[in-house]
Amino acid sequence: MKKNLVINKTIKPFKKKITVDGDKSISIRWVLISSLSKKKSVAYNLPQSEDVISALNCIKNLGSKVRITKKKCEIVGIGLNDKFKKKIILNAGNSGTLGRLILGLLVNTRNKIKLIGDSSLSKRDFSRVTKPLLKFGAKFFSNKKKLPIIMQGTNYPKAINYKEIRGSAQCKSSVMLAALKSKGVTRIKAKKSRNHTELLFKHLNIPMKIKKNKKYDLISIKGINKINNLNYKIPGDISSSAFFIVLTILSKNSSLLIQNININPSRIGVIKILKKMGANIQIINKKFYKGEVIGDIFVKSSKNLKAIKCPVKYNSSAIDEFLIIFLVAAKSKGISFFKNLSELNQKESPRLIWGSKILNLMGIKNKITKNSIKIYGNPNLKIDKKIIIKNFLKDHRVFMMSVIASLTFGGKWKIHDLSSIKTSFPSFLKKLKYLEI
Ligand code: S3P
Repeated sequence: MKKNLVINKTIKPFKKKITVDGDKSISIRWVLISSLSKKKSVAYNLPQSEDVISALNCIKNLGSKVRITKKKCEIVGIGLNDKFKKKIILNAGNSGTLGRLILGLLVNTRNKIKLIGDSSLSKRDFSRVTKPLLKFGAKFFSNKKKLPIIMQGTNYPKAINYKEIRGSAQCKSSVMLAALKSKGVTRIKAKKSRNHTELLFKHLNIPMKIKKNKKYDLISIKGINKINNLNYKIPGDISSSAFFIVLTILSKNSSLLIQNININPSRIGVIKILKKMGANIQIINKKFYKGEVIGDIFVKSSKNLKAIKCPVKYNSSAIDEFLIIFLVAAKSKGISFFKNLSELNQKESPRLIWGSKILNLMGIKNKITKNSIKIYGNPNLKIDKKIIIKNFLKDHRVFMMSVIASLTFGGKWKIHDLSSIKTSFPSFLKKLKYLEI
């Protein structure tokens, strides 16, 4: 595979139908939860992205059996108690979701586990999950804030009360997984965030109650001894679709139907925000699947885009899409403002900073603080210079944002670290090529 991507022309008008790779959040949860059942679980359309492969490798290391064919992936798990006798090293690669969720799953390990990750993951905060896990009774033999982390579970994890204040589904889910293995009822007060773990638990009949308030959910989960297998058809990832949604919005005379996408209400902040900015997006063919909502997204080139003062209530449901939303703000009339986004700098790269850097390179005035960005849009934006994007910690979403910017605004772009797309969306370039045929 080539190391860098050079793009020096904009995309021609297209009218096409595509699908995208499977939902990363659901896939990682499917892998981890299936590893807890001794019965065979089967998934269809599981993406072969690096984050999901890292998850499969971790559960294999812990003793689960995994079989992958072209069509499906099968897991026979180890049950709720571990089997291994010696210290094990698990590698979460680039994935914060995997690293944080798997620590919850390991709350009752009898032996020590060392969790490592790549250089980007090793810069990210883990105290947000090690703190509640300490309360369950887990022990740590290393720095508790950053990888590598050495952890040993406890024979008797004790249910806890936990307040999740960031709107982080990773923290909430890590505690939910630990709760499954604990004695008693774990009570979580969680700021709204994606709810795939809750929906999967509900589907598996795990004893759980959820009370929904406007800003928080109150979740209580009782420990269990056994869990059923989990068969799943993984829908397409809205976060991957977002790059194609924005590509179409910013291209001339184009339309795109993106089929079979998970449009769970806790994930569609990007659609709500873009519609408010004047984007032409429709959701059709809605159906329900195991508690999730699936649909097709129909999007058309959109003129007269307008700036947004983005309501903070959308932050959590669009958290992975802000980089690509910033490109729409760059082309909109007026000054857009996005605030309370300090979590963006906690991602695979500091994304608020990277968003601002790329906008600067594109000639778009913007002002950032630690948790906000103001973007001065230019509806006539056309780029006519050389732009090099590098040293972005191989953040897949920085790479894909840059590709979409080059294909819609022009310029001569050299974007480093092409292999970064393998993290979440290995077929990204193949899908782009298909639009050009
Ligand atoms: C994810 C939650 C989000 C998101 C990440 C996937 C998940 O992180 O950014 O890409 O699958 O739970 P936080 O929970 O830290 O906000």
